[in-house]
Amino acid sequence: RRLTMGAVLAAGLLSLLSGCGSRTDSRRIVRIGHNQSVNHPTHLALTAFQEMIGERLGDRFRVEVYPSELLGSQTDMVQLTQTGAMDFCVASNAILETFSKDYELFNLPYLFQSTEAYHGAMEDEEVTGPVFSATRQAGFTAVAWLDAGTRNFYTVKKPVERPEDLRGLKIRVQQSPTNIEMMRLLGGSATPMGFGDVYTALQSGIIDGAENNEMALTDNGHGDVCRYYSYDMHQMVPDLLIGNYGFLESLTKEERAVFEEGFEELERVQQEEWGKAVEAAREKAEKEQKVTFLYPDREPFAAAVLPLHEMVLERNPALRPLYERIRKYNEMYASGQ
Ligand code: GCU
Repeated sequence: RRLTMGAVLAAGLLSLLSGCGSRTDSRRIVRIGHNQSVNHPTHLALTAFQEMIGERLGDRFRVEVYPSELLGSQTDMVQLTQTGAMDFCVASNAILETFSKDYELFNLPYLFQSTEAYHGAMEDEEVTGPVFSATRQAGFTAVAWLDAGTRNFYTVKKPVERPEDLRGLKIRVQQSPTNIEMMRLLGGSATPMGFGDVYTALQSGIIDGAENNEMALTDNGHGDVCRYYSYDMHQMVPDLLIGNYGFLESLTKEERAVFEEGFEELERVQQEEWGKAVEAAREKAEKEQKVTFLYPDREPFAAAVLPLHEMVLERNPALRPLYERIRKYNEMYASGQ
């Protein structure tokens, strides 16, 4: 895999920061990058993780958290984590499918019928384990999942109330073949790009809309440009903390146990903050940014994209048992709860 220009620049920055290795005094510096602001639940949770490692293993490790794409776009950061130039980054599950097809599972639209089913499945290691370890060969594994809410369409001018309304619209999607296919099935024109480029693309009219959770409206300013946000609820795509495999393997048993506790704390804090953050974002978008929220009938959207489930399962039959297990969570926690 070729490193992109961004990754090369970020790698240069990293070696400047550290003066080449990853050790100052006798402590190992552990670098974690993500693409959200410092107000985002993910940053708050990583800060809690940093504090915990500091308290418990502070004589051996110093955790540094780099927010706001400081170390590059998500794709850049995944590549840097692969090579070990950085140790961890937060990546949307969506972009990981180009590293292993198994990640396609959690990118399927309308995979989960409710938030409870989503959380239940993501907490079940029999569902996540095989996927999270699929990139070991590629140099990294996923060690924690983070809530990134529900993805919905939002547009600069044209309200989206039915899939037909997407026709002729250029909609930004994440750099994931499943998402591109999803847009094709819905009739819109998929424009893949990194998260950091979306605001300018919306503002300059390069795209007509995008799809994301409510925080993109406020924390990333997309609600200053987009007038409509439609709750079609097409995806719940988790964010994953991925770690360089070599680094994780280099930890002693005792250190690894503390890191594992840290990952659990990270998940706990992030999920607790997430609920509050989404509510606040909705309110701000409505009251201050004057975004109009729409509640379209979800059925026509789901019907258009459901063929994607079988397409993916036929291409990758190893995912079928995991998919069936997820269906059990859907039965247990049906929609509307
Ligand atoms: C969400 C998600 C990010 C992702 C972004 C995107 O904000 O939490 O991980 O990068 O969507 O659409 O690219």
